[in-house]
Amino acid sequence: MATLLHKPRLAERMSRLGTESAFEVLVRARELEARGHEIIHLEIGEPDFPTARHIVNAATDALQKGWTHYGPPAGLPQLREAVAEDVGRRRGIIVDPAEVVITPGAKPIMFFLILALIEKDDEVLYPNPGFPIYESMVRFVGAHAVPYALPEKHDFDVDVSEIVSKITERTRLIILNSPHNPTGGVMSRGQLASLAEALSISRANEIFVLSDEIYSRLIYEGQHSSLAQFPPMKERTIILDGFSKSYAMTGWRLGYGVMRPDLAQQIALLMTNSNSCTASFTQLAGVEALRGPQTCVEEMLSEFRRRRDLMVNGLNAIRGFRCRQPHGAFYVYPNIAGTGRSSREVAEALLTSAGVACLSGTAFGEWGDGYLRFSYANSIENIQKALDRIAGWAKKNL
Ligand SMILES: Cc1ncc(COP(=O)(O)O)c(C=O)c1O
Repeated sequence: MATLLHKPRLAERMSRLGTESAFEVLVRARELEARGHEIIHLEIGEPDFPTARHIVNAATDALQKGWTHYGPPAGLPQLREAVAEDVGRRRGIIVDPAEVVITPGAKPIMFFLILALIEKDDEVLYPNPGFPIYESMVRFVGAHAVPYALPEKHDFDVDVSEIVSKITERTRLIILNSPHNPTGGVMSRGQLASLAEALSISRANEIFVLSDEIYSRLIYEGQHSSLAQFPPMKERTIILDGFSKSYAMTGWRLGYGVMRPDLAQQIALLMTNSNSCTASFTQLAGVEALRGPQTCVEEMLSEFRRRRDLMVNGLNAIRGFRCRQPHGAFYVYPNIAGTGRSSREVAEALLTSAGVACLSGTAFGEWGDGYLRFSYANSIENIQKALDRIAGWAKKNL
């Protein structure tokens, strides 16, 4: 006989934890599919490509060879070395393996860093719209999440003067994300240089920067730049990056943080207290990803570029939609103010009436109203079909 379960008494902090609504939209889309609807998935933030064969082979080889045991909490030395070499070479900086911590996916770097640095009532600046976990984690530890905007008219680059104007005595951390989810915006070297200059004179050594560079390999024009490239900022910047997006390895759970060694030790201590370590055989696959052929990344990037162009041109031809050309990641972020409806309404109508799953800009913070996020991690054929459906919906309803 079923017993009635009482609701557990949860710690108060749980009421402050947010979520990622991409997963919720996916569940709703799957329910509609189970009822016979055909949905085109443009809500999901992961590459639709398989992980390259040589990387998969490295993992199966490692399993066969017995890499099935615990490893060091900060990561296997060979992967820490490969990451230090790769991060350093791509950004033109010197990185020591002692500055690298390997984690199961890059997300724990966000969580651990905020746990390690942020006290109750501290202030953390974060992009709004932005990856929803930033605000969630900051609120979870009892700190204040202070939003800054990414103006569409600046191609969704940061406005350094706004960031600087929001720094107070209690600011402890600034979160940057470039290339940016959800806008696809990329921080220019000029903006990074002026932010570095402003931060080097403002309460030096007290304000850290979490630089989320998980999309650093997915740049369509120019080169990726990082705040860590500006000398006084290197020791105050924590680079977050990983394998999920660059090598289509979301399900492997493999990421890393790069930071000064004393901080790296504290993050490793949080690993000891949580995951113990990252799976050993996936780490060896990570070494192969970084040191093996890079054609898989280049091919994925050129396919994404084709899809981006199709998406931007297609959306700009639809009444009520206005879409900038994003320079990185695999998202487009059209302004839909011209529809005269809220983002939530349009996202809902596209899902239920047009069979196209996308995310409301508000899934990334309140300042995302007036926008939608479409991921183009889907085939050209499906993207074209989705554009036709959206155009059909707009013709009928706007
Ligand atoms: C901006 C941003 N940072 C971090 C992550 C997390 O990456 P991982 O899957 O490696 O944990 C994501 C994933 O969607 C992301 O969009």
